[in-house]
Amino acid sequence: MEALWIFRFVLVMGLVFSPINGDPVEDKLALLDFVKNLPHSRSLNWNAASPVCHYWTGITCSQDESRVIAVRLPGVGFHGPIPPNTLSRLSALQILSLRSNRITGDFPLDFSKLSNLSYLYLQFNNFSGPLPSNFSVWKNLVFVNLSNNGFNGQIPNSLSNLTSLTGLNLANNSLSGEIPDLQIPRLQVLDLSNNNLSGSLPESLQRFPRSVFVGNNISFGNSLSNNPPVPAPLPVSNEKPKKSGGLGEAALLGIIIAGGILGLLAFGFLILVCFSRRKREDEYSGDLQKGGMSPEKVISRTQDANNRLVFFEGCHYAFDLEDLLRASAEVLGKGTFGTAYKAILEDATIVVVKRLKDVSAGKRDFEQQMEIVGSIRHENVAELKAYYYSKDEKLMVYDFFGQGSVSAMLHGKRGEEKTPLDWDTRLRIAVGAARGIARVHAENGGKLVHGNVKSSNIFLNSQQYGCVSDLGLATITSSLSPPISRAAGYRAPEVTDTRKATQASDVFSFGVVLLELLTGKSPIHATGGEEIVHLVRWVHSVVREEWTAEVFDVELMRYPNIEEEMVEMLQIALSCVARIPDQRPKMPEIVKMIENVRPMEAENRPSTNQLESSMLPQAVETENSTTQ
Ligand SMILES: *[C@@H]1O[C@H](CO)[C@@H](O)[C@H](O)[C@H]1NC(C)=O
Ligand SMILES: *[C@@H]1O[C@H](CO)[C@@H](O)[C@H](O)[C@H]1NC(C)=O
Ligand SMILES: *[C@@H]1O[C@H](CO)[C@@H](O)[C@H](O)[C@H]1NC(C)=O
Ligand SMILES: *[C@@H]1O[C@H](CO)[C@@H](O)[C@H](O)[C@H]1NC(C)=O
Ligand SMILES: *[C@@H]1O[C@H](CO)[C@@H](O)[C@H](O)[C@H]1NC(C)=O
Ligand SMILES: *[C@@H]1O[C@H](CO)[C@@H](O)[C@H](O)[C@H]1NC(C)=O
Ligand SMILES: *[C@@H]1O[C@H](CO)[C@@H](O)[C@H](O)[C@H]1NC(C)=O
Ligand SMILES: *[C@@H]1O[C@H](CO)[C@@H](O)[C@H](O)[C@H]1NC(C)=O
Repeated sequence: MEALWIFRFVLVMGLVFSPINGDPVEDKLALLDFVKNLPHSRSLNWNAASPVCHYWTGITCSQDESRVIAVRLPGVGFHGPIPPNTLSRLSALQILSLRSNRITGDFPLDFSKLSNLSYLYLQFNNFSGPLPSNFSVWKNLVFVNLSNNGFNGQIPNSLSNLTSLTGLNLANNSLSGEIPDLQIPRLQVLDLSNNNLSGSLPESLQRFPRSVFVGNNISFGNSLSNNPPVPAPLPVSNEKPKKSGGLGEAALLGIIIAGGILGLLAFGFLILVCFSRRKREDEYSGDLQKGGMSPEKVISRTQDANNRLVFFEGCHYAFDLEDLLRASAEVLGKGTFGTAYKAILEDATIVVVKRLKDVSAGKRDFEQQMEIVGSIRHENVAELKAYYYSKDEKLMVYDFFGQGSVSAMLHGKRGEEKTPLDWDTRLRIAVGAARGIARVHAENGGKLVHGNVKSSNIFLNSQQYGCVSDLGLATITSSLSPPISRAAGYRAPEVTDTRKATQASDVFSFGVVLLELLTGKSPIHATGGEEIVHLVRWVHSVVREEWTAEVFDVELMRYPNIEEEMVEMLQIALSCVARIPDQRPKMPEIVKMIENVRPMEAENRPSTNQLESSMLPQAVETENSTTQ
């Protein structure tokens, strides 16, 4: 009891006096005050004991981790007014996005203290009242989007002279009065449509197309006779523009998706089903078979009897099968369970489409497995966005990771430069992947197996931690006699049939990944002549002969003082690749062991003092700084 109390005391003192490297304590407290006082319907993983800069969803810190510079929390279900004196304490803030919530009340006056603010996205909320009168306090503003709110009153004159402002969107509010003569030299994007503005258009804004002023009562003055009339916007048809470059279409049409889907397209349109995560989770704890389905799902079943792209997140993934077909595609790689393509949709969304081969499961089993896999929301598990099942085609749609797989980083692909990976990065990959696999193993009553752990299925998440992909497929594909391939290097000795993967065999495969990270060598590689070497056997032989230092990647040798950590990691890896499955540690233990390699890591992640336990899905956006 006392020990626990002391532990907590140390923790709290630690938080206040911040020995934690690079944790901006003042900003953290401001954020905690903010989230505590603004109700929201989705939970945030803002754990008071974890470092803001590394774990908190939606938060970006400055390079030296001394300040919070970006807060991006779109679609979290915030409702109510912004609590005063919370966000305004983030005095180094540059990017603020709270779009697509249900925030009410006036524009927060105290935002005037955010003098470095450059990007402000508050669109799609329920703000009301006048716009701030003195915009000159934000002289660094680049982009402002306040559209789709209930702001009223006049457009403030002070928007003039904002020398960096390039985008201003005030559409769909209730602004009234005349448009001031805004002298904004760099302004490129403007939208004032659908307000209640009147009077004539000032000369300074006559360079913008008429369409950005529609839905007001504005006279375009005598300039009308000088300018050619602006054509009315093209009537919107349901037909999407055809992509001109036939490459993409050919690629996906030709390569990926065969007749089955084309038939479906001819058959008619596709009904997309978007149902909320919560609902689906409830479904799961209930019973899928026994009518526990959400109404939407039942409707979609009857309307589109057979095939559809089923989404996991909300409807904001605005693409359908047709878009996928039209996307330009590029082969990313052939894996154990199929081929992965990178597909770039017309709206520039990039996704990974995985075309599965040899699926033996029937539709219901397949769907059930997808539901299990898709329900996992964890920062170290790649998110399944959608899936598709028809007789001829089974597709899975994932997030795309721009940096490529850990395998590509370690071993380089043909013709590509390999990225040097320092020890810190490798530690983050190891601990992230371990946490991800541990999470997978906790799923489905603790029975889910990843089944395909290897470095080409591990990516870096936005925090640069390992993130596992391609899980849960072993049980739905046909029994494969293991091919003599790279995958073989990861297979536990007891596994003779890929379908029979177990959690213990996942541990073995993970151990091989750790060895890869330590040695920089592929699981199966050739030395000098033609001889094929198994990484596990090779490491054992070197260690047995007490040449331990020889096993480590030469690239790591230039980092000082890491030898002890590497030796510890090597011990963990060797315990994972034990021959006897029962002798291998379980994933949660492995997570602890790896966290202990760097004691600081473990200290930062106690499960006590959690603000809210569940994680926010990653899908709640990683925005980049120029788009919202
Ligand atoms: C604001 O930004 C400037 C330049 O980006 C920086 O030098 C300054 O320290 C920032 N101010 C605060 C309070 O962070
Ligand atoms: C927005 O606020 C107005 C009143 O201020 C209210 O009538 C309306 O229902 C709100 N809309 C939403 C979507 O909350
Ligand atoms: C607006 O803010 C700027 C910068 O803080 C200040 O110099 C100016 O006096 C203010 N104008 C008004 C009318 O308050
Ligand atoms: C903008 O700058 C000009 C010249 O510097 C000045 O005369 C004018 O008052 C300023 N306008 C506003 C709204 O601050
Ligand atoms: C503002 O938001 C609207 C709605 O999301 C979007 O259509 C528009 O492109 C944005 N405008 C700017 C200037 O960011
Ligand atoms: C304003 O609302 C209309 C109708 O709801 C919508 O069509 C339009 O895209 C909105 N404009 C912006 C900039 O969001
Ligand atoms: C629009 O403005 C006029 C006067 O300029 C006012 O009478 C009217 O009530 C306003 N309409 C809305 C919807 O705000
Ligand atoms: C539009 O503005 C003109 C004067 O600028 C006014 O006479 C007219 O009544 C206004 N129309 C509406 C619908 O408010």
